[in-house]
Amino acid sequence: MSWMHHLLYLIIASFGFIFVQLLRLKFSPRGAVWAKLDAVGATPGDCLPSFARDVLSSIVLTRKFANEGYRKFNKALDRPYALPTPWVRGSSVMVLPPSQIPLLARLDKTGDSEWTNLRGLVETTQLPYIIDDANIYQNVLHFDIVRQKMAHRDMSRLAPVTADEIDHSFRDIWGTDVEWRTINGWEACGRIISRAAQRILIGLPLSRDETMLETSRHYANSLLVGGAIINCFPPSIRWLVAPLIAVRARYFQARYVKMLLPLVQERISQWEAGKDGGPDDFLQWMIAICARDPEQLNATRIALRLASLLTPLIFAICYVFAHCVLGIHGSADRADILAGLEEECARVSAQHGGLATSASTDALRRVDSVLRESMRVSDVSVTNIFRDVVAGEVDVGHGLRVGPGVRMVFPTQDIHLDPDNYVDPERFDAFRFSRSFENGDRRGGEQEFITTATPSFMPFGYGRHVCPGRWFAAQSMKQTLAYLVLNYDVELVGPPSKRKALLNMMVPPVDTQIRIRQKV
Ligand code: HEM
Ligand SMILES: *[C@@H]1O[C@H](CO)[C@@H](O)[C@H](O)[C@H]1NC(C)=O
Repeated sequence: MSWMHHLLYLIIASFGFIFVQLLRLKFSPRGAVWAKLDAVGATPGDCLPSFARDVLSSIVLTRKFANEGYRKFNKALDRPYALPTPWVRGSSVMVLPPSQIPLLARLDKTGDSEWTNLRGLVETTQLPYIIDDANIYQNVLHFDIVRQKMAHRDMSRLAPVTADEIDHSFRDIWGTDVEWRTINGWEACGRIISRAAQRILIGLPLSRDETMLETSRHYANSLLVGGAIINCFPPSIRWLVAPLIAVRARYFQARYVKMLLPLVQERISQWEAGKDGGPDDFLQWMIAICARDPEQLNATRIALRLASLLTPLIFAICYVFAHCVLGIHGSADRADILAGLEEECARVSAQHGGLATSASTDALRRVDSVLRESMRVSDVSVTNIFRDVVAGEVDVGHGLRVGPGVRMVFPTQDIHLDPDNYVDPERFDAFRFSRSFENGDRRGGEQEFITTATPSFMPFGYGRHVCPGRWFAAQSMKQTLAYLVLNYDVELVGPPSKRKALLNMMVPPVDTQIRIRQKV
């Protein structure tokens, strides 16, 4: 994917100049709240060239800016601050301090104000440039299905299905060779995860179709990369560049939808013919819900909704899983971590007669801890949990009232790496969350699992919109990691790669090579 880096630098360089000019022309009037806010770097009130320079630098320096703002304003003064970014109109987002996390429990709509998380989600990938039918991302009924059908209680039903798929995919994709061979670590992890995810999404046999799988992985990746690149351009010139950048994602989306359509049509006709039951997969759950509204029982629409779920289902899970595998093998404590994991997986597997049930995955406390720890140190983004006020004003403390036109975000990465929250926070300490709960010791309270969102652990968000897919993500990642630990030897080729931010996104290690062989 290094074409993406070249393209990116080219774009940044050639548009830097135009950007400054356009920013000057199109600079929009800003809400009064910005005037009362501290800022990292230049403020909009400063001379335009230096503000424009900082907005442009945020493409590569967001992480550094955010660290500084977190320290100086969020922590020292308990105040929000303005972080420069071309992502939004007005060229700054408001980063709220940790003391405002309780706001995330509020109803979206209260007596005097309303806010939404959808705009930020949609604008991370810039969906409107990819999907022509706005209903897909404005009327998110597929979110409700995740909430209803992928809840904690559903995991025991899904566990044997994903376990079966993971076993098949490892054998097909990683193979059974006992000789070392070198593969791309990101892709190797991604291909296993996408098969498990796709199995739950559309069921056999289509879920194992190689072209379908490749298309879905390319779609999820190009959507995220494309979205990140579009967001490097200020909103006022996106109309010009975004359609070009979006071509790749649109192409894979069209292919995916085309391959999926016959299956969706067949399922709809079966449903209409009154046949009860049908397979236990996302497509079927969706048809049952869409059938309530003739506008929604539209095969293209349903296929597009499934496509839009590929980002969390494939990209996000793959991101976390691949970072965890690379984190373990790049750690100085690698041997101890692997020994600890292997011991636990073998023991739990023996007790439960395999690892294909929820009860057995729930018993994998160290596996849970290492994944949670990896999510803590290897965040997907610098800031996360986006909120846009759509009506009225939201009080964010210190007499600051925020109205429409301001995007609020939380400094999640800084919270996860704050020494006040974690001892030795930069260290990847695999059993940080399980250590004190070994041997059934409950004196320290209950173990915090991957799925436990706390004010110091928010990779899945927090509060009212906390990720409803986290039960599935956690269970399938635990199953996959346990399988890997029990069945394969893995080594990193070369040193672990340094993590870089592209705007708000932490760029994944897409070029890291690993050596693998099946255990004898
Ligand atoms: C490791 C993988 C994942 C990560 C890191 C992740 C992260 C997140 C985060 C941070 C949010 C919060 C958004 C907010 O508060 O505004 C969220 C929401 C959401 N996630 Fe995930 N997610 C993952 C996997 C999944 C999966 C597998 C699914 C579905 C199958 C899913 C479906 C959703 C949905 C529907 C929402 C919106 C909830 C709402 O608006 O109330 N996620 N996710
Ligand atoms: C089905 O949805 C697609 C796009 O989402 C739309 O273009 C098409 O007109 C819809 N078909 C019907 C019959 O409404």
